[in-house]
Amino acid sequence: MVVRQYALMRVDRLLTNQPQWNRRQALLLLAQGQVRINGSVIRNAEAEADQFAQVCVNHHIIQAGVAPQYWMLNKPAGVVSATRDPQHPTALALLPAELQPQLHIAGRLDKASTGLLLLTNDGLWSRRITEPALKKPKTYLVTLGNPIDPDTAARFAEGIHFEYENITTSPAQLQQLSSHQARLTIFEGRYHQIKRMFGRFRNPVVALHRETMGPIALDPNLTCGQSRPLTAAEITAI
Ligand code: URA
Repeated sequence: MVVRQYALMRVDRLLTNQPQWNRRQALLLLAQGQVRINGSVIRNAEAEADQFAQVCVNHHIIQAGVAPQYWMLNKPAGVVSATRDPQHPTALALLPAELQPQLHIAGRLDKASTGLLLLTNDGLWSRRITEPALKKPKTYLVTLGNPIDPDTAARFAEGIHFEYENITTSPAQLQQLSSHQARLTIFEGRYHQIKRMFGRFRNPVVALHRETMGPIALDPNLTCGQSRPLTAAEITAI
């Protein structure tokens, strides 16, 4: 199943974005049947191509055309959520080597955190998960250094004010599992958000494991460091 949900651009615009053609020349190329999208001749200037289509003019490739990629990784501790890092192993390095140059991470995890990490080459799709205004829930299993203060759930539900950014976190849901462990659902992904939220109670986070991002759950069959492509249902659910 092909899942198409990314930005489209008119073919005349795609051609005039190239330095060598103005609009008149682009229309001429189209009229002469010299423009192909995914191998088919296109004469209509209003035809649209997405970022993954191959676009050729007179058999020269103008846009390479790559397959959209959507992956989940069970991130191990000690791996950084970065494409490159001079000192530490990166999450990208755990994906198939041929995909690594194209992929970016949709919603980082701290180096010590583990669990669900999503990677894609589709920028619009990743924004739908990470954009704070869209309030996609993310669920974490949190292990604390000290017993959980009885006021924590109520304070998280009110929202915690972060002075540095001058924002108040969206109401978060805390389900206490034991004296030192809880399942926490947050609706944005601010810098060190969960550590800073528990920091208000002077309670250090000793382990943090992401279980879900929006409708996508970490596949229990993935051992630490393993990855797999998302299913069509997972891709379209976002
Ligand atoms: N909040 C944190 O503090 N760290 C993470 O890795 C994710 C959310």
